[in-house]
Amino acid sequence: MTFKDRSFCGTLGEPDEGRRVFLAGWVDALRDHGEVIFIHLRDRSGIVQVVFSPETADQEVCRKAGLLRSEFCVRVSGSLVRRAQGTENPGIPTGNVEVMAADLDILGRAGALPFQISEKSMVAGLAGNREESVAEDLRLQYRYLDLRRPTMQEHLINRHRIVKAVRDYLDEQGFIEVETPILTKSTPEGARDYLVPSRHYPKNFYALPQSPQLFKQLLMVAGLERYFQIARCFRDEDLRPNRQPEFTQLDLEASFIDEEFIYRLFEELTARIFSVGGVDLPRPFPRMTWLDAMNSTGSDRPDLRFSMFFRDATGIFSETRYGIFRQILDRGGCIKGINVKGQSARLSKNVLQNEYAKEIVPGFGAKGMTWMRAVNGGLESNIVQFFSKREQDEIVRLYEAEEGDVILIIADPSWKLVCSALGQLRLHVAGRLGLIPGNIFSPLWVTDFPLFEPVEGGVTSSHHPFTMPDRTDFDPGDIEELLSLRSRAYDLVVNGEELGGGSIRINDTALQNRIFKALGLSENEVEEKFGFFLRALEFGAPPHGGIALGIDRVVSMILGTSSIREVIAFPKNRSAFCPLTRAPSTVSAGQLAELELLDLGGAALLPGTKEQEDFLDSLSWVSRIRINGGERAAISEAVEAAKSCAAKINAAAGEEEPMFSVAPASNRTRPGNEARESRFAKEQDIFRNAPEVKGGFFKTASILE
Ligand code: AMO
Repeated sequence: MTFKDRSFCGTLGEPDEGRRVFLAGWVDALRDHGEVIFIHLRDRSGIVQVVFSPETADQEVCRKAGLLRSEFCVRVSGSLVRRAQGTENPGIPTGNVEVMAADLDILGRAGALPFQISEKSMVAGLAGNREESVAEDLRLQYRYLDLRRPTMQEHLINRHRIVKAVRDYLDEQGFIEVETPILTKSTPEGARDYLVPSRHYPKNFYALPQSPQLFKQLLMVAGLERYFQIARCFRDEDLRPNRQPEFTQLDLEASFIDEEFIYRLFEELTARIFSVGGVDLPRPFPRMTWLDAMNSTGSDRPDLRFSMFFRDATGIFSETRYGIFRQILDRGGCIKGINVKGQSARLSKNVLQNEYAKEIVPGFGAKGMTWMRAVNGGLESNIVQFFSKREQDEIVRLYEAEEGDVILIIADPSWKLVCSALGQLRLHVAGRLGLIPGNIFSPLWVTDFPLFEPVEGGVTSSHHPFTMPDRTDFDPGDIEELLSLRSRAYDLVVNGEELGGGSIRINDTALQNRIFKALGLSENEVEEKFGFFLRALEFGAPPHGGIALGIDRVVSMILGTSSIREVIAFPKNRSAFCPLTRAPSTVSAGQLAELELLDLGGAALLPGTKEQEDFLDSLSWVSRIRINGGERAAISEAVEAAKSCAAKINAAAGEEEPMFSVAPASNRTRPGNEARESRFAKEQDIFRNAPEVKGGFFKTASILE
């Protein structure tokens, strides 16, 4: 038996009947019938049943088979036979055959498994019994076992196919794959940088790239004309389900092109990669300006799988005597609403008034919500009597209200708030009532974004500062004018998720300098951060533009996985931590000394350093709670008691490994999620060690999902 004679489990079938086969893989599942042992042997290609019986295997082989446990790595040889009638297993593709083992080598034993890996039942008709609720951190801690599961292997194989389709297509189109540096200088994409200290230049840092943006533009100045890269990007930003601190982009850039080139290229590319997952994307992709997207869906990434678009009712109420609307309109506000078609029976008064108007919509930031039902050709609700007959008729007309429809309206002095709250309401109602069709894909280009967004005391770039504005005759000091500029940027949105984004770039030093000025950067800052880049623009920079596609997001969407972590081999968890390697982790004082980072500048100690000299001070620092002088003795005693209790538990456990807890975690410290202010908060002293305080509370990072 040598490895070169190896057959693959999942490829065996009736044509192989009578063949002697040599297999290698893992024990997926095992049934011991005393004399006869059955195993499911699994390799990357699939599963086949192997039988160890005294009729075909000698005593020693049967003895070894008796030692087998799930996930042992083995090699087996034997002859392939058709299964006896009635014992076939239609649940696996090789279910009509089995291998009568003649020989067995145990290549690697496996310890007790932290969770079940097998996804296939050995017995025909029984569903696979893998428990779906394995805690994700446990899966990530043993990712090499998690990745043995056929579903996870399928994800990685499909990801490979999708990336290969990208490479093949762009190669056909004359794009060259070029690698750009990972140890580099900050590239602004709106997130914080991950920094890497340099030993050769003590107290100096590289930044990991948030994207290859500047390098790809430099490649255009260099005359490469068409560049792409499957690029790793690093962003230290707030966590969301579809974000990872390090993720992969298909990044591309081309010279002497315009928006139409990108749309054509990318629509073909996107269609090809979705077709790898068997999805046929409708083309051409529709386009919508940012303003239309906001006005009709309240989102810059509209989900077009369902309609329920906004209609603006501001005009209807221009003369209204209904006080709430009157005040809002007097303050320059607006009124928008949606028609939830034919869903009246499923939206009771209690749901509309007590859930949506009082709880859910205020959670979206609006003060409230007005609802109306279409009944007998008119409207019915708790406030409709305050509307004039004309206002009621016009609402029916505007929303094309028919019997059984429910109209939901939000009004506020802020246009932005109305859009955002009604947008969230649109998604919430559609999700709750199951109005979003599954299994369809609705791509869309969103265009004409504002170039800048307001921030305290000025503006910031909506995308990044290298995006070409729609006009160049602006005054960089005039904030109002800056906020009226549109960018030549475009986002690719599918089913309400932003999959990609890019723009036509600035290729002129003077214009780029004016953008930096508008952003409030001083000449020194510009020189320090972007001097090298501005210099490059002075050497015949061609007109150029490009785009980047989030590979993790696109693969996850095509495969329909619950999160992007399912399509990444070794992702970080929801708290940006790697349970497998336990990164990030502390480093030795020696390493810090080598980098001259033990004292950052020699002036101030690192926060908490002094406190760590004393155990109680350290406890106070770590828990962020001040311990008063008077409390020290009692706390010191309690700590000693806890330490001795822990020592006793340790001694009793002896050499026993700690058990894993698979009990679902719950927040035991704050039942019902009701925040209550501590009476000590008033004195503020309790916050002495708090990094951030908001109201009477410690402020902690919020984790969404
Ligand atoms: P942008 O910042 O829009 O553009 O990023 C492009 C795409 O990358 C994906 N993405 C992410 N995926 C997972 N985790 C994250 N934290 C994350 N952040 C972004 C999204 C997004 O649409 N340099 C520009 C591109 C250009 O202008 O050419 C850029 O990076 O799918």
